[in-house]
Amino acid sequence: MTIQYSTASGVPQEQTTDCLVLGLFEDGDLPTATRQFDDSIGGLLSRLAGSGDASGKCGATTLLPGESGSAWQRCLLVGLGPRAELDGEYLREAATAAARHLNTSGATHAAWFLSEIEIPESEPESALRLCVEAIDAGLYRYETTRSEKSRQIHPIETVTLFSQLEAAAAELVVRQGQAIAVGVNLARELGNLPGNLCTPSYLADQALRMEREIGIKTSILDETEMEELGMGALLSVSRGSRQPAKLIVMHYAGGDGPPVVLVGKGLTFDAGGISLKPAAAMDEMKFDMCGGAAVFGAMQAAVQLNLPINLVGIVPSSENLPDGDANKPGDVVTSMAGKTIEVLNTDAEGRLILCDALTYAARFEPAVVIDMATLTGACVIALGHHATGLIGNDQPLADALLEAGQQSFDRAWQLPLWRQYRKQLDTNFADMANVGGREGGAITAAAFLGEFTSDYRWVHLDIAGSAWLSGKEKGATGRPVPLLVRYLLNYAAGQ
Ligand code: BES
Ligand code: MN
Ligand code: ZN
Repeated sequence: MTIQYSTASGVPQEQTTDCLVLGLFEDGDLPTATRQFDDSIGGLLSRLAGSGDASGKCGATTLLPGESGSAWQRCLLVGLGPRAELDGEYLREAATAAARHLNTSGATHAAWFLSEIEIPESEPESALRLCVEAIDAGLYRYETTRSEKSRQIHPIETVTLFSQLEAAAAELVVRQGQAIAVGVNLARELGNLPGNLCTPSYLADQALRMEREIGIKTSILDETEMEELGMGALLSVSRGSRQPAKLIVMHYAGGDGPPVVLVGKGLTFDAGGISLKPAAAMDEMKFDMCGGAAVFGAMQAAVQLNLPINLVGIVPSSENLPDGDANKPGDVVTSMAGKTIEVLNTDAEGRLILCDALTYAARFEPAVVIDMATLTGACVIALGHHATGLIGNDQPLADALLEAGQQSFDRAWQLPLWRQYRKQLDTNFADMANVGGREGGAITAAAFLGEFTSDYRWVHLDIAGSAWLSGKEKGATGRPVPLLVRYLLNYAAGQ
């Protein structure tokens, strides 16, 4: 069920709607629209806030019925957190909670005023874009492998988004928000699918489906073709698996000029191989293809936005399992670039499949290459789950991606790629080892990739901490699709 959006400007008390959606700060302070509405109904909302019956805590929702005969049938009050701290995170959380509450109410239409709230230190249209993203993403449910599907009596159908923007500008921003959400939800769905369904062949089929349905061009390289290209690093990971590896290549041709190339780790299940992982939380290694999923999501969004750029998506896809034929610690493999690699730890497989994909990327003579991968536990230790790790060989590109992360509230944080780190990969038996010890593990992983990216401008995004949530909310987040789409929008505007 997709929501129909329209945009408008105006005041809440003049709307005829199933439901008004209004914000409320934690300190009882009211955003402009809420204050205007409150004045028109004799201060009822301030009284409810003052008595504690309506909470301004971020994401708290309070539904008020309208009087019979009034133009608004309900009013959903949504907590925005403390006014002084308002930022994209708070607004996203509030908007998500509002969308979910709305979707279980009796309303099928809403007049949504959270989109006109100004987020300090961000662009004037940020709240509108973020609200669309939050509504569409907030209503995503993973259902594919559940036999009980959620049934809805009154799903929300149309939302009028209020803002101070001109109509044409507002509509453009809504389309952007929708495209981001479609990309995010596609990435989440692929991420959430279990490893027994979402295999390399399944991902390849998805890319072929996208070729049929949205008009990108897809080619799938099988193991024989990879063999001919000399992709010994990638193929060494796949040897321990019964599922054949695939190299998925997608083209979106929306402009002329050299392409932006996105490369995403598509490891559909990472058991560690012979360097087997411990059992605890190993199920979460089905998410080890979230970098690849983000490439799918970004491609989908680029098509939907008709971006005037060329875009290539490359997803090396494999499983990593223990087997009699699997990589063994100490094995030496030869990459497509001709560099030899000693596999000291078979669990550092992501860099092995990525290095050949990064070498392959050079043939597109890219403007820039961005890779994304759930690459290292060390990145989670360094940055936790809030930021994506960012490392690259070109500071202007790194800055552009950091900025896109800020603008899309999908933030990344840069780590250094000094030559000293590269020394940790030295070994007596090959050109490099695939691991560099525990210290600076996210950086040495990037330093490994950096050995294969010297021909172009490149940034690596380590999404090990940001691509999925654990615990009760376990599931893929769709990150870094918002960051990528924002980067592509900026790139298209600036070229
Ligand atoms: N996919 C994992 C990284 C990972 C681990 C992401 C935990 C999120 C949570 C990757 O293939 C891996 O196993 N990396 C190893 C590298 C090490 C052997 C140098 C790691 O981080 O432990
Ligand atoms: Mn691994
Ligand atoms: Zn992995």
